[in-house]
Formats: sequence, C-alpha cells, structure tokens
Amino acid sequence: MAGESQKWILMATARAPTNIAVIKYWGKRDENLILPINDSISITLDPDHLSATTTVAVSPSFEKDRMWLNGKEIPLSGGRYQNCLRELRSRAGDFEDEKRGIQIKKEGWNKLHFHIASYNNFPTAAGLASSAAGFACLVFSLAKLMNVKEELGQLSAIARQGSGSACRSLYGGFVKWTMGNEMSGRDSKAVQLANETHWEDLIIIVAVVSSRQKETSSTSGMRESVETSSLIQHRAKVVVPSRILQMEEAIRNRNFSSFARLTCADSNQFHAVCLDTSPPIFYMNDTSHRIINLVERWNRHEETLQVAYTFDAGPNAVLIAPNRKVASSLLQRLLFYFPPGPDYELNSYVLGDKTILQEAGIESLNHIEALKPPPEAKDKVPSQRFAGDVSYFICTRSGKGPEILMEEEHALISSQTGLPK
Ligand code: DP6
Repeated sequence: MAGESQKWILMATARAPTNIAVIKYWGKRDENLILPINDSISITLDPDHLSATTTVAVSPSFEKDRMWLNGKEIPLSGGRYQNCLRELRSRAGDFEDEKRGIQIKKEGWNKLHFHIASYNNFPTAAGLASSAAGFACLVFSLAKLMNVKEELGQLSAIARQGSGSACRSLYGGFVKWTMGNEMSGRDSKAVQLANETHWEDLIIIVAVVSSRQKETSSTSGMRESVETSSLIQHRAKVVVPSRILQMEEAIRNRNFSSFARLTCADSNQFHAVCLDTSPPIFYMNDTSHRIINLVERWNRHEETLQVAYTFDAGPNAVLIAPNRKVASSLLQRLLFYFPPGPDYELNSYVLGDKTILQEAGIESLNHIEALKPPPEAKDKVPSQRFAGDVSYFICTRSGKGPEILMEEEHALISSQTGLPK
C-alpha cells in the first residue's frame, strides 16, 4: 500500500505573458531581494504571441528539484530559483485528494521535490524578456499546485525575486511596479493600472534585430550602472518619479502623444545611463539607431507623434502605434527599410497578428520589393535598404495576465513518468 501511494504525481500548468517597460527599471538597491531604485511601468504583451508555459509536478518519488527549459535540462541551483521556491514553500497550504489517497500537510511541502518544465512560444535567444514570462509562470503555477492563498500582488513580490521585471507579468494590461520602501521587500510589488481592454486600439510591433554580439546581462549591466553612473541617481530620484505620474495620467486618458513622448524619452534616458556607465554599455546597434531615426523622421514630418519606440537591454525595437491604420503604415516603412534577407519567407518574417500585414497590402515578398520610400524620406538621396538586418517582426497588442491551463493536453510533463513529454 505504501508503495502504491508513493506513485502519485500532482501537476499544474500555467501560461504567463512577457511585458515591455515604457518607464524602465534599471538599478537595484538590494541585489538579493531584487529591490529597485525606481518605480517602473510596463505593458503586458498578448500571451498568444509572446508567453511562457510551465508545468510543475510534485511526487514523493522525485529525488530532487529538476527543471527543463524548452526541452533541455538546466540547473536549478541558482539563488533566484531557490528564493522563489523557499517563499512559496513557506506559504503553501494543505492539500488533499481523498480519491487518489493524496494528502500533503503545509509542512510536508518542505520535504517534496518538484519537476518543472517550461517552454517559450518565441525564441529564448531573441532577448525578448523571457525571464520575465518564465519566473511569472513558475511562481503562478507553483502557487496553484501548492495551494498558496496569496493575492496576486504578493505573488508578484515573489516573482520579483526571480527577476525584477517578472513581477509586472503577474497582471495583464498596464502595470506599475512600485519600488516600495520596506527592508523586507513586501511592498515592492506590481499593481495593475488598467486591464488589457482599457486601450485596445494600441498595436505593438517588435522588431527582432539580428545581432552577432552577446550583450551584457541586465543584472550585471544595472549593477555596473549603479556603481559608476552619476546620471542614474538623477534619473531615479528626479526624472522617473515625475515621469511615472505623467505616464499614469497618459494611460488613464489614453493620451497617445503624451504616452509616446514619455516612452521614447525614457528609453533614450535608460540607454544614456548605459553610456554613462564605466565601461560604457552599448545595447542598441546600428539597426536600432536606424529604427529610431525612421520613427523620429516620420513623427517630425507628420507634426504629431505617430509611433513610440522603446528598447531594453538589447538591440530589439518595440514600436507602439495608436491604432491599426498607423500600425500598417509603420509596417510598410519597416519592411521598406528592412526587407527580409535572401531565402526568407513572408510567413516567417512577419509573425503574430498577420492581419496588420494584410491591411498594409502586403501579400507576398514581391509586394515588399515594390514598396516605395515613405514621403518623409530625404529627397534626392536614394533611400538605402537594409535587407537581413532584422530577423523577423512580431505584430501584437496588450494582453491578459497569467492563467491556469486545465486541459491535460497543455501539460509539458507526463503524468505517468513525471518527465517532460
Ligand atoms: C531593461 O528584470 O531582466 O528590461 O532583475 O536582474 O533579473 P533582473 O533584471 P531584469 O531587467 C530588466 C531591465 C529592462 C527594463 C525593464 O524591464 O524595466
């Protein structure tokens, strides 16, 4: 009998979104608890296009905690995983399934081990905040499995200890991470400013920029900035507090021009802080700069802000348009300057919501070839096109927060073997 009851495996599966900061988090005041030096604000991206799915399993037959990312086993020894696991174990509830003869007492979770399998629906190496979606999903699925009765805000404070930006992925729509001031970090958590239906017209286009270079990780980059940049102090104390208030108001009123002005300014200041770091950190490359120029030139030509841009710790551009019409004009411009390299297919060059592509009138590679320079392009100087400098585009929008996936087919771990399917 004892042998039989040792065989059970209990599982939970969740899906969690990534997010893109429009007011950036850069710099910690506590490295271990991951407490930031300023508030930040992000948009949660549609999980249909950019998300992590995670299955967590527990069984008395598991001998140690193990994790697989996109099918490959990775070490779970890192302090950040351990911090999240410890926080969740200490909040676990009793669990009972009489039919299956499973009973786990609160204290019992300390003795049990987990198998965790996670999968991103976008390339991890593309530098698209995969750790944010990953830790949000890990914490959300483990909280479900372990019967943790905490509100989302407290779960966000746990996810924060995995990766700072992960705390903002616990909610959909527009999210603020309040830096808090308690030493324990309990008040350093995410709050939802508005859900994903609040500003439905916004369209987000991510340009995944080809890059050969391995960038400095956010973690070490921001540590070096805190140690060596004087601009970062001014940013955290003076600039961000007032920008946060203005950004909250812009979001509340769906004021695109204010939203776009603040988003671009904050991205540029974050990269200025990186340049002010010693030695300087360069996250953007020539392609990123060309994308900024394209947007700035267009905005100036129209005399109103058409599109906002923002860049994280890498060369990828995230472009935000106020509606589908502007998004399709943006996509035409992007495809004019950055057509696919040889051997690409249109279908794998523009991913996500492909209706924007249709609205832009682009149905084949020939249509891209035939695109004309936009009206704001400099007269007389023939426009240069940079084929192959962008790996692909993803058209998306603001989306919902994490959710539990109930159907067995979504599980990434086999309920028979306890190993990835
Ligand atoms: C530039 O959350 O990846 O994307 O807390 O050290 O894990 P750690 O860093 P991480 O940093 C994200 C930095 C950023 C800006 C942002 O998302 O706010």
